[in-house]
Amino acid sequence: MPAALLDLPALPPEGYPPLAREPAFEPARHLALERPERIVTLGELGYGSEEIAACPGDFGITSSFRLLSAEGAAALLEVCRLLAPYATSSGRIPRKVRGGVYQSRFLRDLCHAPEVNEFLGEICGIPLLPHSIPHHLGHINYNPLDLSQNVDKWHVDTLRIDYVLFVTDPASIRGGEFQYFHGTKHEVAALHQAGAKLPLERIVTPAIPGAGYAVLQQGNMVTHRAKGLQAAGERITMVNGYVPRNAEFPDYNRFDQIYHADPAHVAASEYARHAAWIGRERLQAFIDQGIYSEDRLALAERLERVAQYLGQAASDIRKAGEKQLEHFGDG
Ligand SMILES: [Fe+2]
Repeated sequence: MPAALLDLPALPPEGYPPLAREPAFEPARHLALERPERIVTLGELGYGSEEIAACPGDFGITSSFRLLSAEGAAALLEVCRLLAPYATSSGRIPRKVRGGVYQSRFLRDLCHAPEVNEFLGEICGIPLLPHSIPHHLGHINYNPLDLSQNVDKWHVDTLRIDYVLFVTDPASIRGGEFQYFHGTKHEVAALHQAGAKLPLERIVTPAIPGAGYAVLQQGNMVTHRAKGLQAAGERITMVNGYVPRNAEFPDYNRFDQIYHADPAHVAASEYARHAAWIGRERLQAFIDQGIYSEDRLALAERLERVAQYLGQAASDIRKAGEKQLEHFGDG
């Protein structure tokens, strides 16, 4: 049995008051799912077969595609504006809201929508589930009020699969482009370390036809950024994260990084709960397959693998805060 969606905990953490009034998410009116025209593979970006084999697929990044109707984009914009007073900054992103799914029913329902989940899984060829860490759902970036700052620096994501959805129309502002590097993250790291800028001819700026359009990416493999605005305006994007539906697939989480972005009373709790869920799904698959076998070493190994995974997660949690926040700068 493949894993099923892990819903949010019954009670939200402290500091995430629910919105008093907001629109209700209506999939039939708010979604407008259209397939992207092009997909760039990890191979095309220059990754080798060994690294690709360690990923859930060769999928890299799509051209933009429609996800929300005009009405859906307008409703999401309303929700994002209601959440804007809760925006905080990190060392990488000047103005963002994370954990909005605890505050907005609309955002939670959109981010959990099974129609979107199935659709995205078909596009990238990887059966998915909405992310089991609530702060990886419905991450909202707002343009910095200081025009000299980028929305987000060059970086790779702390999770595997996500989409970046334009909530506002890019045509209504100057600047604010979403861009990715046509190359590997190792090339970017080397250039950053050498103090060199990324070669302009390898920076791709996907055309975004309007509000409600998105790109889907294997975000931990595709180096990307969001540029600042050149004139005052409103730029809002929403990023929703997914995990492979196959819980046996090696988990990818950068808890060391998440711990810098999210409040201490939430980050470790969400990660511990996620690890418990993965461990439970792996044990459940073991229970369901039947246990009668003479191969006692294989049985032992199966248990050890789960114990090892949980032990690693526990160790990550113990070491929280030891590592620096990573990014590749503004160049
Ligand atoms: Fe990102």
